Amino acid sequence: MGEKIKLEIRNMTKLYKNNDGVRNINLKVKEGELITLLGPSGCGKTTILRTIGGFLKCDSGSILIDRKPIEHLPPEKRPTSIVFQNYNLWPHMTVYENMAFGLKLRKIPKAERHRQIMEMLDLVKMTGMEKKYPNQMSGGQQQRIAIARSLLLKPEVLLLDEPFSALDAKIRSQMREELRKFQIDLNITVVFVTHDQEEAMALSDRIVVMNKGTFEQIGTPADVYNNPVNKYVAGFIGDMNFIELADKTIAVRPENVLIHRGTRGGIKGKIRATMVLGHYSEVTVDTKHGIIKAFVSCENSNIFHPGESVSLSFTKFHEYDKKDLAS
Ligand SMILES: Nc1ncnc2c1ncn2[C@@H]1O[C@H](COP(=O)(O)OP(=O)(O)O)[C@@H](O)[C@H]1O
Ligand SMILES: [Mg+2]
Repeated sequence: MGEKIKLEIRNMTKLYKNNDGVRNINLKVKEGELITLLGPSGCGKTTILRTIGGFLKCDSGSILIDRKPIEHLPPEKRPTSIVFQNYNLWPHMTVYENMAFGLKLRKIPKAERHRQIMEMLDLVKMTGMEKKYPNQMSGGQQQRIAIARSLLLKPEVLLLDEPFSALDAKIRSQMREELRKFQIDLNITVVFVTHDQEEAMALSDRIVVMNKGTFEQIGTPADVYNNPVNKYVAGFIGDMNFIELADKTIAVRPENVLIHRGTRGGIKGKIRATMVLGHYSEVTVDTKHGIIKAFVSCENSNIFHPGESVSLSFTKFHEYDKKDLAS
């Protein structure tokens, strides 16, 4: 990833008739960067992606690629390419025909077309599938082809709208690893959309955490995980306990909760349950602030028994002011 800004969105607003949409969006994406728009359904992720791709007209603001404004251009004139969650391939065309279509429109000669298609099939590990129709392939295979077809058009910015959300967990994480690998190898600039925080954490150079049409925080996965700027981000990324006090909220991750035998200091409580989750266990503790969750290593988990009195201390926590509007 370089320092050059590939995509810039300046003060962009796009509202639908009912006033839903996105407001005052500002974003700079570097060349070769994979940036993820992360937020719950309805927060405006697709709206932003479609304004970049040219399928929606923004009300105000501008969008620049390589410092040139593109907001006045129709989708086919923009140096972008978009892949959606579903229905990307033309069902009546084979894989090969699907991939050849855009290249034909661009008048790429047949032999060169063939070379590029075969190279791209190799990249997405789909060599040998040329003659298949979309309905003869799994969802994951179809999305591989959809991404490959987009890449053939050599977009300056690749837009991916929840491309893996319809796939099962195992295929999804495999696809995300493969995408990340060739995205880095080919230095492609990507705006990726997901509502899945785990996917965002695994894939991204930076994450934009969205809420109701605006940005709450932009940062690396480690930034947003370790230093969430407000209660909303704290609650959206990873597991978090919230302890409500009179004037503030304390947020503490389960891995930062220590459980001590007896009730000498800290927050007092009683062990509720222990659940083994693989290489660690989740221990829940009843306290006067509600249930607090702690992650402990497996060898320590069976030393606590339901009903036992314990006290808790925190190795790290965040404090949010109740007056903070985003809290
Ligand atoms: N064509 C439309 N007309 C009216 N409202 C829309 C339209 N498309 C989306 N919205 C609304 O705009 C908001 C953002 O939608 P969207 O960008 O699709 O969110 P996301 O992709 O994050 O789920 C939602 O409240 C949605 O209901
Ligand atoms: Mg969407």
